[in-house]
Amino acid sequence: MKTTNNTILITGGSAGIGFEMAKLFSEAGNQVIITGRNKERMDKAIAKLKNTTDIVSDVTNAEDVDKLVAQLQKDYPNLNVVINNAGSAQVYNMIEPCINAFEKASEEMLTNYLSIIRLNEKLLPLLKQQSEAAIVNVSSIVAFAGRASTLPTYAASKAALHSYTNSLRIMLENGPIKVFELMPPLVDTEFSAIIGGANGIPPKQVADDLITAMQKDEYEIHVGQTADIFNNFFPLSQKAVLAFNGKL
Ligand SMILES: NC(=O)c1ccc[n+]([C@@H]2O[C@H](COP(=O)([O-])OP(=O)(O)OC[C@H]3O[C@@H](n4cnc5c(N)ncnc54)[C@H](OP(=O)(O)O)[C@@H]3O)[C@@H](O)[C@H]2O)c1
Repeated sequence: MKTTNNTILITGGSAGIGFEMAKLFSEAGNQVIITGRNKERMDKAIAKLKNTTDIVSDVTNAEDVDKLVAQLQKDYPNLNVVINNAGSAQVYNMIEPCINAFEKASEEMLTNYLSIIRLNEKLLPLLKQQSEAAIVNVSSIVAFAGRASTLPTYAASKAALHSYTNSLRIMLENGPIKVFELMPPLVDTEFSAIIGGANGIPPKQVADDLITAMQKDEYEIHVGQTADIFNNFFPLSQKAVLAFNGKL
């Protein structure tokens, strides 16, 4: 996949991993559009970025998504890369009384899984028109191995995203759209501060690994410690998906 001269949408591009991806891609000669819920936060991000515009849009809000898609179709008809980066995590012990695990898990599933399915579905017609296109779904190391004591249902939402991404890749394999999955370990961002994120890798490393993997068409991207977990415990998982789909 080429990594210059693309038109790239990054959901949740005003901070953390999304911001670093916006910086790297815009500096590499791509047109970048970032989204987020907080306009002020996006204005601050945009001031540090070149070749980047912003659109206020909440991935969980159907009306916002319809407006976003309409604006992209009108103003960015060459859009060829969608990076589903916006995510949400609830840190809690799911066996505490009255913890409202159902509400917490519902919010995570909506943000980390269902909203990605909705946006991809709405943007597929535009992506299919391009000669080369990509969807990048940002999951996590916890899609392989969840942290039961702190992020139980977040991990489940990322595992769902991982499974969906495998299926999407197979269903799109004969067209112009390549499907990538970016699987970071603990990363030092605001998102992870509550779970010791300061000990994590810098978000720039995640963005660097994404660009390198896209250049090599490496579709499942195991960043840092994710590679250790994958190599030790899941080395045949990609072959299992292919075998079960009659592709081996
Ligand atoms: N940090 C980690 O340790 C880690 C590890 C593995 C995977 N990940 C994944 O990486 C992705 C990015 O995480 P991060 O650590 O970079 O987070 P972050 O620093 O908190 O940044 C999140 C970005 O997403 C935006 N956002 C949040 N909810 C949104 C929504 N509903 N609609 C649109 N934009 C939204 C935020 O802006 P607004 O708040 O203004 O909307 C912000 O721009 C997530 O999917 C996360 O699950 C993170």
